[in-house]
Amino acid sequence: MPSVDTTIQLIQIHEQPGHTPASTCSSALADAPWNFDATPTYGPGASLEDPIPSTAPRQPGLPSEYRNASPAELDLRIRAAKAALREKLVILGHFYQRDEVIQYADFVGDSFQLANAARTRPNAEAIVFCGVHFMAETADMLSRPDQAVILPNLAAGCSMADMADLDSVTDCWEQLDEILGQELTPDGRQQVIPVTYMNSSAALKAFCGERGGVVCTSSNAAQVLTWAFERGQRVLFFPDQHLGRNTAKAMGIPLDLMPVWNPNLPLGGNTPEALRSARVLLWHGYCSVHKRFTVEQIAYARQRHPGVHVIVHPECPMPVVDAADSAGSTDFIVKAIAAAPAGSTFAIGTEINLVQRLASQYPQHTIFCLDSIICPCSTMYRIHPGYLAWVLEALERGEILNRISVPESIAVPARLALETMLKLSPRPQTPA
Ligand code: 13P
Ligand code: SF4
Repeated sequence: MPSVDTTIQLIQIHEQPGHTPASTCSSALADAPWNFDATPTYGPGASLEDPIPSTAPRQPGLPSEYRNASPAELDLRIRAAKAALREKLVILGHFYQRDEVIQYADFVGDSFQLANAARTRPNAEAIVFCGVHFMAETADMLSRPDQAVILPNLAAGCSMADMADLDSVTDCWEQLDEILGQELTPDGRQQVIPVTYMNSSAALKAFCGERGGVVCTSSNAAQVLTWAFERGQRVLFFPDQHLGRNTAKAMGIPLDLMPVWNPNLPLGGNTPEALRSARVLLWHGYCSVHKRFTVEQIAYARQRHPGVHVIVHPECPMPVVDAADSAGSTDFIVKAIAAAPAGSTFAIGTEINLVQRLASQYPQHTIFCLDSIICPCSTMYRIHPGYLAWVLEALERGEILNRISVPESIAVPARLALETMLKLSPRPQTPA
């Protein structure tokens, strides 16, 4: 099966009357990512319509020698730089990266695994993170101070992470304080424990670390919530309402005890009574990649492929998770497919680069994306071999470009919350 990039180019070519094998959510996906560096958007793909904060980092123009290089030339240059840098360099790649980038990664994994991987090469002088901004910040905070973490394209952010900012979360916390007070419960627990999803800024991780809170990823969210309830009566979960709701629901928490906090409304749009009886307060954030999956797509897959196993990521809305056979992190999805008997059929609800790669790696199975429209994560898509070649060749010359560096005043409290997260390892999950 061709890579997502190749598929998109093929769709572009065939998008003539009478030839539409599939379609994309944006014809601009066929353009190079540097065409969007000057535009104040997340770029083409699933987050295209999401409002981007004016403070979101921008990528200065990529030099023309990289923009104009052919894929074969970039390949030669990247391999040569990697060979020259040897153990001074480690490249990390998230599962959602394009195959054209993943081929150079020393570690490929989900956000939990990559957070750990950042630590496994203490001798590497540079960690080039082919993922998104919050992942690179985390790698910076978990790596040695003299290691440089590099994000090849600074515009590779995350629209979900941007849905919660320090000011609005602090404002929410102060409003909760007024309603709930700060007294410990009779059994000695806090009124609220803040839990931030890994997909959040370093500042929000620090916010949690300063208030007895923690970070979670989609692979250890249940362990983190259990940990948080041992220490608090309620959890304020941000920014992804869906991961929070799906995880808490699976732990038996009733939906009416999980109000949503809308940062644009007083008390988040809730009554004081609802906040007092809440167990989990869900921030009004979501992932535009996973929001695309629907119950109708699952019904259609079941109708077309009787016996299909539907696996979705827990960033999908609750009705989609409920209608699926199983739900789990990207690593869970990878492991479920690796463990399946030959001839299995899977419909997957997660980012298309991972789904299409799994379909290529496991030709003995039938694997397809629930969504027939090709719509990658806009921000993961901003990393391209052109930027990788640019930062690697600079490293070879001793120059560090696009360094992600979290100030110690933020990193110290954020590390507290991250270290707790790393201790709460994902429970081994078995697909249904
Ligand atoms: P995981 O890699 O933790 O499953 O997260 C998916 C994701 O959306 C990363 O941005
Ligand atoms: Fe953010 Fe969603 Fe992209 Fe992950 S897939 S980086 S949550 S927008």
